[in-house]
Amino acid sequence: MQDALREFLSQLSERGALLTPDAFDYLKREGDELKKIREVISSNPKVPKILDMEDVQGLIGKNVMKKRVERKFDNIKVLRDVTGKSKAVAKVDSFVATFVDRYNRLSTVLKGKGVLKNIKSIERAIKLSGDEVSVIGMVSDVRETRKGYMISVEDPTGTIEVFFSRQKMREKPLLDEVIGVYGKVSEKKGGRNPIIFGENIVWPDIPNHSMNLSEEDVSVAFISDIHVGSKTFLEDSWNRFVRWLHSDEAENVGYIVMAGDVVDGIGVYPDQEEELDILDIYQQYERLAEMIKDIPDRIKIVMIPGNHDFVRPAEPQPAFDDDIKSLFSGDVMFAGSPAMLEIEGVKILAYHGTSINDFISVLPGVSYEDPSLALIRMLKSRILAPIYGAKTPLAPEKEDYMVIDDVPDIFVTGHVHSFVASRYKGTMVINASTWQAQTKYQKLNNFKPDPGVVAVVDLHRGELHEKRF
Ligand SMILES: [Fe+2]
Repeated sequence: MQDALREFLSQLSERGALLTPDAFDYLKREGDELKKIREVISSNPKVPKILDMEDVQGLIGKNVMKKRVERKFDNIKVLRDVTGKSKAVAKVDSFVATFVDRYNRLSTVLKGKGVLKNIKSIERAIKLSGDEVSVIGMVSDVRETRKGYMISVEDPTGTIEVFFSRQKMREKPLLDEVIGVYGKVSEKKGGRNPIIFGENIVWPDIPNHSMNLSEEDVSVAFISDIHVGSKTFLEDSWNRFVRWLHSDEAENVGYIVMAGDVVDGIGVYPDQEEELDILDIYQQYERLAEMIKDIPDRIKIVMIPGNHDFVRPAEPQPAFDDDIKSLFSGDVMFAGSPAMLEIEGVKILAYHGTSINDFISVLPGVSYEDPSLALIRMLKSRILAPIYGAKTPLAPEKEDYMVIDDVPDIFVTGHVHSFVASRYKGTMVINASTWQAQTKYQKLNNFKPDPGVVAVVDLHRGELHEKRF
């Protein structure tokens, strides 16, 4: 009996088909049915790629099993992204508008916290020697001095230097973050502007909150960096994941969020073609569209781009163009990166995570293996990519789409090919894993990815389950 089942499985795999776990269990139990289905399959030229219990019973002409009333999940919208709204101008000074917008949005957040006393514009603060004031500004410089740190902050009215002793500088600000600083304005000496002796730094941060939950009993699977088209794409792990989606255990999975780099792309790095299986960008997306056809129909997929995808690399990235979108069926939805989504009433901030590279260089404790502190810092500064002029390419948009206006219930990134899940002030923080094995570049850098991990978040209970495929 076991041998017959094994033979049947290899007969199926020769034809590129798989059994779902419940169909497997069923055939293991029912020896007669196994015999029948083997005969049917060998004489049947058309076999579905994934055979679930109903397919098996259908093929042997058995209709005892009532077809599960398939739910179709579609309670999803994009609350904010750049798609169709890009107003980027390619002028040198065009980042001014982005900065002003960032400043305005985040100073409103900082004022709303109600913790900064006696807030003054920098122009006004300079004239208030001896007073204790707060200013809100963008960090334009941080340097270590003999006795502590000197930081420069700018607002639309001017620039001021703030000195922090080593004891008072508990956490260093990053360049281009918008912060509130509180301290005493120094006496004027000669012709030089006074400085502030800093006491405290306040970040916009997200408040402590409880996660919004869905009324519907539904889960979202978070995945990223599929890299279809690469020689190192892990097809077997992917197939195990798709098989699992057909199982009873996964019946509440109603959505899949794909956080970018869905294909490997072309010309992303030198000599990439040596590591590609599919050399044509459209064929890479076509292959992905084929793979998605095997995902159960009830599941709504939302896809955002990453730095390997076929859209502008500068962030915020818009959703794919129509020529790519048209390759997919209607069950796939497209959004930009970043995108604030709402799924079943739960707010999900999805961002590919390209800026994690910048955090690795400047923030202690952040690595490719564990980017969680970078994600938490993004929530704390409420900017997804604070540092201009670093590795993350940014577009000079009139609005700063990298600012986190709304507090997300779930924040997901990908990009670094590791898997982490944590919580920060009530927000679930996920770095979704990859479906690509170690690349040459990663091997050179001694980095071991953690592929084939799926974060399954039960939106009704607010729980995260880690599944490994
Ligand atoms: Fe990436």
